[in-house]
Amino acid sequence: MLQADLTYQLLRNLTSPVVALTAERNGKENGMISDAAVRASIVPSVPRLSVYVHKFNYSHDMIFETGRFGLHLLHTNQFDVVRRLGFFSGRDQDKLAGIPHHKGKLGVPVLDECFAHFECSVANVMDTGSSTLFLGDVVAVGRGSAADLDTRGELLTATYFRANMPAEWRGEYETKLKEAQQVAAEMSRHIKPVVWSKR
Ligand SMILES: Cc1cc2nc3c(=O)[nH]c(=O)nc-3n(C[C@H](O)[C@H](O)[C@H](O)COP(=O)(O)O)c2cc1C
Repeated sequence: MLQADLTYQLLRNLTSPVVALTAERNGKENGMISDAAVRASIVPSVPRLSVYVHKFNYSHDMIFETGRFGLHLLHTNQFDVVRRLGFFSGRDQDKLAGIPHHKGKLGVPVLDECFAHFECSVANVMDTGSSTLFLGDVVAVGRGSAADLDTRGELLTATYFRANMPAEWRGEYETKLKEAQQVAAEMSRHIKPVVWSKR
């Protein structure tokens, strides 16, 4: 295995659970998938999380311009949500149309069904060249409507998703990942300082 491949495979151990990010800008709602989210504070009175979003995703500018987003942990039985939000762009279609959701306290879409959700107000950002790391103050939380553990399933991790996605999705997933890697490679070296001002 090439050193770069080995490094990439080892870094996969640092991916997060699969999360659905949502945003709303001027009445337009959207959602995408990320596996790069993490708790960013141990202080119960200052709850924070962070997530990396590539700049070429439609959701990026929606979040950057509004300073608000929703982040949802998903169940292992929500592969359909991962495909819908993570394989297509909201530039071309209303991806949330077929996914039951409601407006949260911050005005961002909150999925009715999820393992847990967090509504966040952006507190700071860091540029990586190809993506932005959003640091979010968690201002509201909740659990999905399926209270019954049998129907909820377990927390959906990135490792579980990669190992268990339907065989007919794999080619599409890998093609999209390769395309994103190529674009990100060109952008990654140009990191710029960004001063965040509250929206
Ligand atoms: C399992 C999985 C993990 C993903 N992780 C990320 C990620 O960490 N960051 C990111 O920017 N995009 C990630 N994506 C890709 C976006 O979800 C995808 O490009 C999506 O179509 C963007 O939608 P949008 O253009 O409507 O914002 C992931 C997709 C999948 C399926």
